[in-house]
Amino acid sequence: MIELAASILSADFAHLADEVSEAERGGATVIHVDVMDGHFVPNITLGPPVVKSLRKATKLPLDCHLMIENADEFIPALADAGANWVSVHYEACRHLHRSLELIAQHGMKPAVVLNPATRVGLVRDILPMVHHVLIMSVNPGFGGQQFIPFSLDKIRYLAELRAELGLAFRIEVDGGVAHDTVARVVQAGAELLVAGNAVFGAGEAEKDARALLAAAREAAGEGSSRERAGTAPGSKSGGRSKARTASKVA
Ligand code: DX5
Ligand code: ZN
Repeated sequence: MIELAASILSADFAHLADEVSEAERGGATVIHVDVMDGHFVPNITLGPPVVKSLRKATKLPLDCHLMIENADEFIPALADAGANWVSVHYEACRHLHRSLELIAQHGMKPAVVLNPATRVGLVRDILPMVHHVLIMSVNPGFGGQQFIPFSLDKIRYLAELRAELGLAFRIEVDGGVAHDTVARVVQAGAELLVAGNAVFGAGEAEKDARALLAAAREAAGEGSSRERAGTAPGSKSGGRSKARTASKVA
């Protein structure tokens, strides 16, 4: 099933709870939280105290994307703060298997992130451990960057590998997901769509989240014209199975 993970990186941090509620009303079902340390990436954002505040503002899963060099040191604090999913970069973890185990031991869903220049095959052996794989479609560090087209080949390859290995991890994509790219992204096989600028950039998170999600579901064969109009009450179970088939074929 296609889900929208609203990335608060582009939200108004002075009104974070309101921004999150707006995205949620627009159909976001995951809140994506970018944790940056100024070392692994050339930017600094937030840490466990803000995650703790967000936890009070929403019941949606908090998807913490760690762009930090010493991820292991922050796992206990993130668990205490109420994080649900924690993803760590292949490029930042000296002992990736250990970091993923640590996340799971703290009751959170572990995930691995791959930078644009990192090949999917490098994480093959740890795929049975992860809740999702996050394919970066920009170089991490900033919102509002341009989508890197060869990310689509990586998503397709990852979907093939998942089918070949008979695994059920989910495929997430992060960076430049917007109206001009979202159809290609879901058709390649991504299901968890991280979007920052496309949701929060214009200050109309509810409307923009709804429009982006409708476009994504339409492209995946999950949408309907009633849903696009925001009037559909019901289930999309028929569309879900179509989307699963499409991602396996890709
Ligand atoms: C970038 C972050 C993204 C960022 C995406 O390093 O990981 O989550 O918010 O921003 P957009 O959707 O604006 O490209
Ligand atoms: Zn991110």
